[in-house]
Amino acid sequence: MNDKYILALETSCDETSVAIVKNGYQEIASVIMSQVNEHEAYGGVVPEIASRTHEKNITWALEKVLTDANLRLKDIDAIAVTYGPGLIGSLLVGLMVAKTLAWLNDIPLVPVHHIAGHIYASNLETKMPFPLMALVVSGGHTELIYMKEDYSFEKIGGTLDDAVGEAYDKVARLLDLGYPGGPIIDQRAQKGDDNYDLPYPLDDDSFNFSFSGLKSAVTNLIHNEKQRGNTINKDDLAHSFQKRIIDVLAKKTIKAMQIYQVNNLVLVGGVAANSSLREELKNRCQNEGFHFIVPKVINCTDNAAMIAAAGYFALQLNHCFDEKMVAKSVCELTSENE
Ligand code: KG4
Ligand code: ZN
Repeated sequence: MNDKYILALETSCDETSVAIVKNGYQEIASVIMSQVNEHEAYGGVVPEIASRTHEKNITWALEKVLTDANLRLKDIDAIAVTYGPGLIGSLLVGLMVAKTLAWLNDIPLVPVHHIAGHIYASNLETKMPFPLMALVVSGGHTELIYMKEDYSFEKIGGTLDDAVGEAYDKVARLLDLGYPGGPIIDQRAQKGDDNYDLPYPLDDDSFNFSFSGLKSAVTNLIHNEKQRGNTINKDDLAHSFQKRIIDVLAKKTIKAMQIYQVNNLVLVGGVAANSSLREELKNRCQNEGFHFIVPKVINCTDNAAMIAAAGYFALQLNHCFDEKMVAKSVCELTSENE
């Protein structure tokens, strides 16, 4: 079979990214332009600033990736692009560039669901073995997805309120730790101990998650300690908060794998960059005899290489429907419409 080069664009949130991946697994070139500095002063992503920054950066990223790969557009077999979910103005920038490139150069256009992209980041690590369970943890998502085969997605559980990354970012804000909160809490937690009595979030028999109660418990604890004139030990609070989250994520993921009789776990999404979560799931999988796959940290947070990897498989299955040619701020990941 001929080699296939997929060029992908990812602009769903606050990273402008363009990448070229060969045959769905080999990263040829990748550019990720983070907008952290633009949004830092506001303590979160400002949608208007995000779309304007994508518009400013995207042509530079595109040219850079082609130069780094030493390829021209005529060498590209398909353009993959994130169509949703995400910030609508940001998605539109990537989608319009992708449409223009595809139309002008007569290249197939493959719309990719952002979560399918996160999952396929693991294919950049090793050929994904099936069936598998994917734990997707990011700023916008917390989902357990069962995959029988390539591009077959069955959501078996998800968050009922906040996404796990959202909870990290909010708690970091409560503790005045800066933005984005996930990596900072990750570091601070390593210096602390489990000295705060926080509740375990939705520790039940379902595969669903809930993090807003835990976030409220942290809010109340900070408030009460301040009223009593006590100082908060931020390292300990970060540790206790993170421990509750990791315990419940790990427990439910392993249980889901046992019930669905799956031996392969992929951990993906921005929060998959978390060192303790990676460690905990690696150990639990080792104990159970499960195969554990996690992308390198740079491919956990938003990037276009993961979209290119997913796009390769979507292209093979001819999943290039017209309805997907429009940006969608909210959309479920299902097998039927992929
Ligand atoms: O996947 P991503 O880049 O964007 C979304 O699709 O949401 O994920 C970003 C999220 C943010 O909430 C960020 O705080 C979190 O991932 N994150 C982390 C870590 N690195 C990034 N959370 C915990 N520990 C980390 N090391
Ligand atoms: Zn993401």
